[in-house]
Amino acid sequence: MNDKTKYEIMKNRELLKGYHAADVTAEETDQQQKLPSIPCLQTSIATDTIKLPTDYEHLPIKGTILDLIKNRESRRSYQDHPLSLLELSFLLWSTQGVRHFAGHKNPVTFRNVPSAGSRHTFETYLFINQVEGLKKAIYHYLPEHHELELWDERDDFDKELTDALCGQRFASSAPVLFVWASLPYRMEWRYGLKAAKYLLIDAGHVCQNLYLACESIGCATCALGAYDQDRLDDLLGFAPGPSFDRHYTCTIYAAPVGRQLPT
Ligand SMILES: Cc1cc2nc3c(=O)[nH]c(=O)nc-3n(C[C@H](O)[C@H](O)[C@H](O)COP(=O)(O)O)c2cc1C
Repeated sequence: MNDKTKYEIMKNRELLKGYHAADVTAEETDQQQKLPSIPCLQTSIATDTIKLPTDYEHLPIKGTILDLIKNRESRRSYQDHPLSLLELSFLLWSTQGVRHFAGHKNPVTFRNVPSAGSRHTFETYLFINQVEGLKKAIYHYLPEHHELELWDERDDFDKELTDALCGQRFASSAPVLFVWASLPYRMEWRYGLKAAKYLLIDAGHVCQNLYLACESIGCATCALGAYDQDRLDDLLGFAPGPSFDRHYTCTIYAAPVGRQLPT
């Protein structure tokens, strides 16, 4: 390992420990300076939204929590069969669904996954290949009213998506690919330099809930950290490179979903 790489590794380790120069950490966060935050929920860009069904009692949910934890594994082969809209809805609810709101001017959400300070920096994007009732396209989840909106109606993303996922074709060809993108300022507003660490920890909860929820309805998933940052961001329309824009957004994590193969 050359000295430059060692230096960058050390900077990453500093992030893990939350070490930063004392004069930087002494600065008040934007929240302490009483600056406004950005909304914790994105408003829809589309005129039409797709209401997601919530009659989860009709799902054949199986397994105790013991079974789900024991049987969860990363699965990279799926049935060539569409997911139902109810199954997709359940997976979205399990990973980012809102339980209640608090506050008026800029409400905070409380969801089915924990988040540091309940800042919830993630937005969920779906590359949909096979879901009953939805055409192939890119969608965005709107947790406020548990809806989907069409993010990009293009259906010719196969090659670009496979490239963006570093050739992981099992993921780009799955019935659905979940992509979680973060707006870090939602977290930085309160936690400043600690925000990066917290939002990465948050991502783990989201994906683990996806694993367990998939397991409970006979679906399969696999966490994906290997992807080309700029290509995946570009496919979703996010600007390349870091910037100080308060609405700066970048992808953090992804996971394909399909039905489990029969055993
Ligand atoms: C942060 C993270 C990133 C991962 N990235 C990938 C990936 O890009 N491709 C892949 O096939 N598996 C990926 N995995 C899945 C791991 O390879 C898998 O969890 C590991 O082999 C253990 O298997 P298990 O999940 O079945 O216990 C990732 C897992 C995590 C937690």
